Amino acid sequence: MDTIIRGGTIVTESDTFVADLGIEKGKIAAIGNNLPAKKGTTVINARGQYVMPAGIDVHVHLQLPFCGSVSRDDFENGTKAAACGGLTTVIDFAIQTKGKTLKETVAARQQEADSNVAVDYALHAGITDWNPRTKREMREIIAGGIPSFKMFMIYKNQGWMADDAILYFALEEAAKYGGRIGVHAENVFLLDALIAEYQARKKLPPGCYAHALTRANFTEGEAVNRAVYLAGAAKGSLYVFHLTCKEALQAVAEGMHKGIDVVAETCPQYLSLTEDLFKRKDGHHFATCPPIRSKADVAALWEGVREHALPIVSTDTCTFDSKQKAMWKGDFTKIPFGMPGVETLFPFLFTEGYLAGRLSLNEVVSLVSTNPARLFGLYPGKGSLLPGTDADIVVVDPKRKVKIDWRKLQTNCDFNPFQGKVLGGFPTATLCRGEVVARNGKFTGRKGYGRFVKRRPHGNL
Ligand code: URP
Ligand code: ZN
Repeated sequence: MDTIIRGGTIVTESDTFVADLGIEKGKIAAIGNNLPAKKGTTVINARGQYVMPAGIDVHVHLQLPFCGSVSRDDFENGTKAAACGGLTTVIDFAIQTKGKTLKETVAARQQEADSNVAVDYALHAGITDWNPRTKREMREIIAGGIPSFKMFMIYKNQGWMADDAILYFALEEAAKYGGRIGVHAENVFLLDALIAEYQARKKLPPGCYAHALTRANFTEGEAVNRAVYLAGAAKGSLYVFHLTCKEALQAVAEGMHKGIDVVAETCPQYLSLTEDLFKRKDGHHFATCPPIRSKADVAALWEGVREHALPIVSTDTCTFDSKQKAMWKGDFTKIPFGMPGVETLFPFLFTEGYLAGRLSLNEVVSLVSTNPARLFGLYPGKGSLLPGTDADIVVVDPKRKVKIDWRKLQTNCDFNPFQGKVLGGFPTATLCRGEVVARNGKFTGRKGYGRFVKRRPHGNL
């Protein structure tokens, strides 16, 4: 064997036991006791540490042209940050611009990524130009390893919006070939009207608090409800990206009870931060859309995670630094939406889920690795520790704690939503296909090592 991870506590979605894990040619070769090392075998001592399948972030926007800027974590740095945080696969988006085919869009995004990525990546196809050609292309895109799509129920001005009819037909078409439609669900007409109402006011609430007030829970709850209904009508498969509030969660839960194929994710920012942050002078740093919400929503989301109504936690990484965020110049409609996240996903869940007693460590593995792999067609090659699969592994010392300081993170941002918070769960080693790509929070791999991963259709949990 090339590498043996010796004596760690192996944690998968279902099991926890002490053993050695052997790696050969980038694949997991064996799990057992006293695996023999030969001359030249690298031995990683993991005694007293956890050995788990590496994380998969199914929602990142690296170098995304958006809100008049480009998100600061590019394919190179974003995937280095992923490695430092214990993730070895990220799923980014190839978002169509008007007039471009899906195939052209995917090829261009792969070109941007391929020589730069430090860990493995896959793509969702973003449908923004619905026409007979786009519809025809879906079959080929799915067959080519991209069985999931993102459609935006908002962003009219960005030229990305899909209306209800487009969403319905896309759900129907994707279902024919085992594809899943993901949505950014907010009600665009309500948002526009609420924003106009606030813009007409002489006095606005402090900071950028109007950002929260104009994107009230019901604007998301209604849109999720509608998307779920359309998925049922089309007999399609739906994924709700970045779900943030109890109304939206209820819509998903009701859909699941009716037997509609709907799965939703939430993100660490929605499981921890609350909207009073927007009243602060630097509140605009935390503006995402949908926005962070109330304490009651945070509690409801944790309940959803515990009860498996939210079986995946992703990040929606879309890093804008303070200079980019400053473009808002006091106008709450002009804040670049998004935050860093990919580097702190695993530590956040380890700390706030496992160490805080909300989740077992097996559940953390499910949320951040096995469920994402199953739903998005990567399992068992990724998201498991089965022999013959990719040796994508994190080794975590439960005693190691890190006080978050943006200056010390790989992420390209001069603030962090968890600044000053102490998190466990940062890996002492991250292995991507058997190569150690990060040690103790420092990137040790190389740019270009990552590969595009083709995914299978009909993904399910
Ligand atoms: O604030 C967000 N969510 N930024 C990224 C773009 C999106 O809507 O997913
Ligand atoms: Zn979105």
